[in-house]
Amino acid sequence: MCGIYGYIGEKSVDEVMKGIKRLEYRGYDSAGIAFQNRERLCEDENTKNGENITLIKNKGEISNLEKIVLNKNLKSNVAIGHTRWATHGEPSIKNSHPHFSGDGKWAIVHNGIIENYLELKQELQTQTESDTDTEIVARLLEKYFNGDVLSTIKNVCHKLKGSYAFAIITSHSPDKIFVAKHGSPVVVGYGKSYGVVCSDINSIKGENIYVLENDQYAIIEKGKINIFDKNLVAIDVGKLGAVKKVERSKLGDYSHYMLKEIDEIPSAIRRTLKEYENIEALEKILPKEKFKKFKNILIIACGTAYHAGLVGKRLFEEEGIYCESEIASEFRYKPFIERRKTLAIFVSQSGETADTIGALKLCKQHGLKTLAITNVRNSSITFEADYCIYTNAGSEIGVASTKAYNCQLVIFYILSKYFNYFKTGDEKAYYDEIKNLKNIARLIKKNDIKSKCGYIAQKIYKSKSIYMIGRGLDYFIAAEAALKLKEISYIHCESYPAGELKHGTISLIDKNTYVFAFVTQEKIKDKTFSNINEVVAREGKIILFSQFDNSNKKVCEEIKVPLVKERYYPLFIINYLQLISYYTALLLGNNPDKPRSLAKSVTVE
Ligand code: M6R
Repeated sequence: MCGIYGYIGEKSVDEVMKGIKRLEYRGYDSAGIAFQNRERLCEDENTKNGENITLIKNKGEISNLEKIVLNKNLKSNVAIGHTRWATHGEPSIKNSHPHFSGDGKWAIVHNGIIENYLELKQELQTQTESDTDTEIVARLLEKYFNGDVLSTIKNVCHKLKGSYAFAIITSHSPDKIFVAKHGSPVVVGYGKSYGVVCSDINSIKGENIYVLENDQYAIIEKGKINIFDKNLVAIDVGKLGAVKKVERSKLGDYSHYMLKEIDEIPSAIRRTLKEYENIEALEKILPKEKFKKFKNILIIACGTAYHAGLVGKRLFEEEGIYCESEIASEFRYKPFIERRKTLAIFVSQSGETADTIGALKLCKQHGLKTLAITNVRNSSITFEADYCIYTNAGSEIGVASTKAYNCQLVIFYILSKYFNYFKTGDEKAYYDEIKNLKNIARLIKKNDIKSKCGYIAQKIYKSKSIYMIGRGLDYFIAAEAALKLKEISYIHCESYPAGELKHGTISLIDKNTYVFAFVTQEKIKDKTFSNINEVVAREGKIILFSQFDNSNKKVCEEIKVPLVKERYYPLFIINYLQLISYYTALLLGNNPDKPRSLAKSVTVE
């Protein structure tokens, strides 16, 4: 989703351009920059002058903006930039950020959504240049300016409903960037000769980094920052404790992050395991005395993280623990059933997904204890949840989640055994699980499947529609596999529980349809093979993934997978589908790291 980068110090325009490039991976459709500037630049559809502030914006890739900015050899000490993922109004120059107030004395960039912007627009009784909610805020700042910039910002923020992280520059107080936060992530930092603000902890460059909390404000200057609470009482920054900077991974010799991140799966799994390989380490985070009272589990997440939660649900069920699994954006708006002795678990790679965090807050309001499973330290979810465990997958830049998913599964494997240990007191099962998972990591590393996956991609890439089927854990593999394939190939792809096909969807299967079938669970394999026969009878082309001998010779392709314990197949087989999706996207000329319309971190509801 949208990204904010602001910088005070020498070459601020260059720093902001580099900063917004680091934010690219989050998904965007236009970009812009505003900087303090005493010269008036020649105006055109991309460039506008305000009062000692200039805006330059463009549609599409950041390189489109770069072409204009770099030509102008701009020198400024204060700049803010933005990558926009359209919510209000189409992707266009006029709708991209930053936005000016009517008098050109304020420029603002915004992440989040102002829900009452139409009401506020009426209150303003003024024409706006864009269709955005953000421009309204710029105009409110102008209207309610009371001589003091920070208190004006606070007063305007009090009028807003929704979520925001703002970075604001103004000619009323040049040489400063003002920041406000409510619901959308933002981090600020400073070094000897600069100050910096960014919406993404993975993308900020600098020392002394602080994560702003809700309803805090910050003033950033060269060499210092001041942070204020909701009443504008100054907070002693020394007492806040700066956070450790996150090292962002580099592409190295790879052409795409997605492939790099798939290759990193074995090492990512090992890193996840390392932190919890002693049961005492987990006990320190999730104290046994508190956790053994939970008899039920509720897992909530979105997208790939939701699919990890489906596998988690089954793993808990295998230990005899009642478990529900819910999509966050659905859960939030249905009647809340009060639950007792229930632990609510929230899974989020980014730790910023608005609906997942919204669902977490809802559960807390209803008195449930909450545990976050996330990959990003100091992400918003870590401040909201009662307990937190990290997947340690390392930074994931590709929009399509790969290694983070595998590591989410690893946490569920471990957690299910940790809960089993409360019931049985048996530590051995926990340590066996760790050992088995290490073996799976080794096997994934050894399993040389790239050319096989490339070959399958060649077969399917011209398809109009693909189905993925399985039962039980195999169905959860199908769900994640289908999401992966569709999000980066743009081929319509649906997952179905194999037994459910004949209740409607089978009518869509014909001789042009590929159906991926996953058969790894002994108890239900014959049932799924029957469903496969039903597809073959309709001339559907089966691509089978199984460790079992297949008596049905009519499948179109058969991928015989190595033998592992059945419960680990979701962790193991997804590797094939991640690669097949990747190669399919390449064959179709898509950039798998930045699929159209998608964002890495979904911070709107
Ligand atoms: O950061 P999160 O894990 O909360 O994100 C949830 C989904 O948006 C995410 O998994 C999405 O489905 C991925 N792009 C799928 O690859």
